[in-house]
Order: sequence, then C-alpha cells, then structure tokens
Amino acid sequence: MKGMAKDLGVKCSYCHNMKNKSLDEIQHKFIARDMMSMVKQINEDFMTPMKVDAITCWTCHRGSTAPPHSIDDKPKPHEH
Ligand code: HEC
Ligand code: HEC
Repeated sequence: MKGMAKDLGVKCSYCHNMKNKSLDEIQHKFIARDMMSMVKQINEDFMTPMKVDAITCWTCHRGSTAPPHSIDDKPKPHEH
C-alpha cells in the first residue's frame, strides 16, 4: 500500500476513508482495484512468460494519478 501510494504520488486518503479503510466508497479505490488486477494479469500473462522484469504502478504512473499518454501531454495538476 505504501509503495502504491508513492507510485501515484498520493496519500492513503486518496483511496481510503481513514476512519475505516475497508469501506468501499471512494471512486479512486475502485479504479485502483481494477488497476491492481490489470498489473497482475499483465505480469502473469506476458512479463513472466517473456522472462522480463514485472511491471508496477510506477512503470506508468511515475508519481502521478494521470500518466501522460503522449510526449505532448502536459502534466495534469494534482488532485489533493
Ligand atoms: C490508489 C489507491 C490506494 C491507495 C493510495 C492506498 N490504498 Fe489501501 N487499498 C486500496 C485497494 C484497492 C484496496 C483493496 C484491495 C483488494 O480488494 O484486494 C486496499 C486495501 C487496503 C487495506 C485492507 C482493507 C481493504 O479495503 O481491503 C488497508 C488496511 C489499506 N488498504 C491501507 C492503506 C494505507 C495505510 C495506505 C497508505 C499508506 C493505503 N492503503 C493507500 C487502494 C489504495
Ligand atoms: C499500463 C499503464 C498503467 C499501469 C501499469 C497502471 N496504471 Fe493506473 N492509470 C493508467 C492510465 C493511462 C490512467 C488514466 C489516466 C488519465 O485519466 O488520463 C490511470 C488511472 C489510474 C487511476 C485513476 C485516477 C483517477 O483520476 O481516479 C488510479 C487510481 C490508478 N490508475 C491506479 C493504479 C494503480 C494502483 C496501479 C498499480 C497497481 C496502476 N494504476 C497501474 C495507466 C496505468
């Protein structure tokens, strides 16, 4: 969790209600869960068979919640 927060450049509260972290009520948390299964699947289906290093959230995100899609993309302003 700490690594994931760092990879996106956010605090725990970006995805969690800090009074009860197991609540599912913040949209970012739903997306994060799907991203986690995407990363797992890419690693299992492609990276491991190709014998290359596993990808992580950092591979795309680089400390941002909105990784650039092209070299011309301006970095998006940070959401709290
Ligand atoms: C980018 C979103 C995101 C950030 C940031 C994040 N988490 Fe999570 N966290 C999740 C998701 C998604 C799950 C549920 C994983 C699952 O369903 O297996 C989870 C699960 C948890 C759980 C288990 C309860 C549950 O909901 O299943 C705890 C405790 C937790 N996180 C603590 C933290 C702490 C502490 C931090 C900050 C260091 C943090 N998280 C940062 C997305 C996030
Ligand atoms: C293959 C590249 C890639 C990887 C790997 C990746 N992401 Fe993403 N992620 C994206 C893209 C692209 C977006 C959409 C950014 C935008 O809106 O322009 C995104 C968006 C998100 C968002 C939504 C931000 C919002 O506005 O709500 C969250 C949360 C997120 N990613 C979490 C994660 C987590 C956690 C991991 C690691 C488990 C991860 N991502 C791995 C490409 C990636």
